[in-house]
Amino acid sequence: MSNSVPILNLKAQYETIQTELEATILEVLRSGNYILGKYVQSLEEKIAALCGAKYGIGVANGTDALLLALWCLDIGPGDEVITTPFTFAATVEAIALRGAKPVFIDIDEHSYNIDPEQIERAITPRTKAIMPVHLYGLPSHMDPICEIAKRHGLRVIEDNAQGIGATYKGRPTGSMGDLACTSFYPTKNLGAAGDAGMIVTSDEKLAERLKAIRAHGMRKRYYHDELGVNSRLDELQAAVLSVKLPYLASWNARRAELADLYTKHLSGCPGIVTPTVSLAGQKAGTARGEVQHVYHQYTIRVLSDAGTGGTLENPKRDELIAELSKANVGSMCYYPVPLHVQQAFQQVGASMGQFPISERLSREVLSLPMYPELTNEQVIYVADCIKSHMAKVAVSPVATPVSTALSSI
Ligand SMILES: Cc1ncc(COP(=O)(O)O)c(C=O)c1O
Repeated sequence: MSNSVPILNLKAQYETIQTELEATILEVLRSGNYILGKYVQSLEEKIAALCGAKYGIGVANGTDALLLALWCLDIGPGDEVITTPFTFAATVEAIALRGAKPVFIDIDEHSYNIDPEQIERAITPRTKAIMPVHLYGLPSHMDPICEIAKRHGLRVIEDNAQGIGATYKGRPTGSMGDLACTSFYPTKNLGAAGDAGMIVTSDEKLAERLKAIRAHGMRKRYYHDELGVNSRLDELQAAVLSVKLPYLASWNARRAELADLYTKHLSGCPGIVTPTVSLAGQKAGTARGEVQHVYHQYTIRVLSDAGTGGTLENPKRDELIAELSKANVGSMCYYPVPLHVQQAFQQVGASMGQFPISERLSREVLSLPMYPELTNEQVIYVADCIKSHMAKVAVSPVATPVSTALSSI
């Protein structure tokens, strides 16, 4: 069916593995083993291996993974963590919930990931960690990030919620930081049937502490060495993920195929910029041989007339969304408001105009349907809808480079 393309279709994936999935869920139900059973343990081992780390610690969701990663490094009040304002709120929420201060730096305009060139200027004696996000499934430029961290004695926590299965210079995302955090939220490339998350690390001491913190600070039952929480990965969710994991590589490959198809059919479309496989500071699209993008999202830019002007409004994007909706095509803005201007993060003290690239992208990004079950015909239909609408709208703005002024807080 090519004339209705929802932004997501989780049922379609379920139907491809229904028999296996239902048999495994039933097995767990019948076993009576619902907490930290064999599926959690084997999933921890397999995800750690996939991410090139020694240990996996299953937790309740990706947000807790970030929170516990900061916690096990004793990051808290008085400390600062450098990250991006152009990410899902959980990245920054975790820092703030620990009582630490998020310090934003702007992103690179082609990769949408943090610009390592801006990190050093944001470092202060209070800086404890850098938290890069592999946004939309494209790895951040980890070599310069890790090099700066090493030189300044900082920790690196990868937010790998959107990047599972991606590689950077042959290394899996999750293998380069001190710790990496993954979300198995149902819409992720590897999604549970509910909430779930994991932290991976190769540091035995951190792994051991994380296992205690996720279960009320217990190393031995009912002996609470320190404060902790209840944030265990659910056995049923681990079973679901164990069924799905063997398919991840082929699902990610299919996403990449669909992304290429979108890009081919959207090339030259006025007013639209297609995503590129890029590393911060390099020319757009030059990282294809070095980096494997897993396209958690396929995100285009709908250029706005405002250029770098201080607004988040983009009538051109609104019109395109409405046109797509009329054609039964789903689309979504991830994320329409950068975090430095969100009410919840006002204590950070940043304001509109401080991070021009993040602001511009918030105004222009639009994610299109992207899941392995999409057909080529559906992708071509979506691209055709965009092309025919954009051909009708008046003079298109041009993608001008955005200056990368220092943007720390
Ligand atoms: C970049 C990023 N970080 C963190 C999270 C938080 O994960 P969860 O929703 O599992 O708490 C998400 C997912 O929603 C995410 O996309």
